[in-house]
Amino acid sequence: MAETISLPVTTNRGVTYEILVPQIAALVEGETDLIANLANIVAALRQGFDFFWIGFYLKKDNQLVLGPFQGPIACTRINFDKGVCGACYSRREIVIVPDVELFPGHIACSSASKSEIVLPVFAPNGEVAMVLDVDSNQLNDFSEIDAKGLREVVKIVEKLIANVAV
Ligand code: SME
Repeated sequence: MAETISLPVTTNRGVTYEILVPQIAALVEGETDLIANLANIVAALRQGFDFFWIGFYLKKDNQLVLGPFQGPIACTRINFDKGVCGACYSRREIVIVPDVELFPGHIACSSASKSEIVLPVFAPNGEVAMVLDVDSNQLNDFSEIDAKGLREVVKIVEKLIANVAV
């Protein structure tokens, strides 16, 4: 396991993803505990980007339930038809919201959250096993660069899920 995350001095997110993603892959290599790995993944992403809030919501029965995260305390349970996380789960696709105030049904865990991106994480059977939720305190903070970079992180998680019993 990599002992540290080392990051370049750059404001270019694309470059940071390129450097961080292989480090995250190394960080989880050889560890089979899913929760431990998810916890380190969100810590590494927060270290790399200083996102306001980042975390996983895991599908448990008929809800999304809060998993490992970094940032202020958050809602613990989200219904599939609620919020950006629920939209991501139901649509089975990445959802970018430039202004959460304009998203019908957005769940305001914190009034400081202004924009967000949520990605689905697929289990080997094709079902959405969890979502990765990233919130910013800036409006319009996420772009296709984040979608691409975070999708690479999600692919690492999908491999972990394929190898361990969830
Ligand atoms: N923003 C999410 C809720 C979770 S928190 O922001 C941590 C949503 O509307 O789905």
